[in-house]
Amino acid sequence: MHDPEALRSMHCARFGTEPQIFAAPGRVNLIGEHTDYAEGFVMPAAIDFATLAAISPRSDGKIVIYSENYAKEREFDVGSLPTGASGHWSDYPMGVVVTLAKAGHAIPAFSLSLWGDVPLGSGLSSSAALEVATALAVTSLVGVTIPGPALARLCQRAENEFVGANCGIMDQFISANGAKDHALLLDCRDLSFRLAPIPASVALVIANTMVKHAVSGGEYTSRRAEVEEAAAVIARHRPEVRFLRDATVEDLELYGAEMSPNALKRARHVITENIRTVAAADALICHDLPELGRLMAEAHESYSKDFEASCVEADTMVELAQDLPGLIGARLTGGGFGGCTVNLVKAEYAQKFAEALAERYTKKVGIMPQIHICHASGGAHRVDERIQPDR
Ligand code: GLA
Repeated sequence: MHDPEALRSMHCARFGTEPQIFAAPGRVNLIGEHTDYAEGFVMPAAIDFATLAAISPRSDGKIVIYSENYAKEREFDVGSLPTGASGHWSDYPMGVVVTLAKAGHAIPAFSLSLWGDVPLGSGLSSSAALEVATALAVTSLVGVTIPGPALARLCQRAENEFVGANCGIMDQFISANGAKDHALLLDCRDLSFRLAPIPASVALVIANTMVKHAVSGGEYTSRRAEVEEAAAVIARHRPEVRFLRDATVEDLELYGAEMSPNALKRARHVITENIRTVAAADALICHDLPELGRLMAEAHESYSKDFEASCVEADTMVELAQDLPGLIGARLTGGGFGGCTVNLVKAEYAQKFAEALAERYTKKVGIMPQIHICHASGGAHRVDERIQPDR
């Protein structure tokens, strides 16, 4: 998979025209969970799983989208774009098209072939990769260049307003703006960021619990509501606190009794997670790996106990990694309730670590996990000119 040349041939065979090809990566979040919509900090890295989008113009007023993952094609009229989601995979690319149209771009007729290898429903942002790849392909056809941060906002809007999933900015931002061999400390308030190099001696081992995760699911939404409830209680006393980004642990001591017990716990996670995330970026930049590992362990504990967004399988995966040689830090990554753990592992131990973790997990849980040794990759880009330079 993830083969632009194969996608090019497929697109040519189906639509009879040479496409331009774009790629947008999935992501793993090293630390900073459910902090993005509270205008806080996150530290994700783009990974070497991606969605490819091949696009070519049409002259019949249609938008035809083919997904190789679903082996399905869908057709729309440029003149009557859908007004809402249909619960279908095409909601993600069409959400982007509709959002671009709403932003004032004239949408042309086109054929789009999509093919991704970001594992679906595993908390590695396959949706964001799909949105960003589509956005890049369509804007390129239209002839406009939207800077990465604005492209990410547009894709987030597509997901919030068209698809109906209330996600924050993290996934689309890192897919559009990732940097090879780096994690990115993002301030979700103003989208300013700092790159933190991931040394070649550190491997990103991503372990899929095989428990499905979905941002559109009720748990993500109810956690977000509790976070917002806590911010509203604090704002009654300190009106300058619009988001938990501005709140402190002291606020919880003073006003926590006015919150529901759940809102108090969720807020404690978000407030302490923001502090940990900034500290983790410092630790990574200073190459203080023991400190980074300690912060990741604390983050997992907080995500599991206070935010209650883990599950038995993810807690087990983290637990089973603890005494394996080479581990720097392990935690559940992404929106929660399943998906993957991220393990920072000393590179020379990565292969053995992955094998041992898979064996232990299979034995304990009875499910064979998928374990990937990944690399931090660059953000979304055009790929076709690099396939065969002399074509
Ligand atoms: C999902 C959302 C993100 C973020 C994470 C949790 O991935 O899409 O915006 O909220 O969950 O950190």
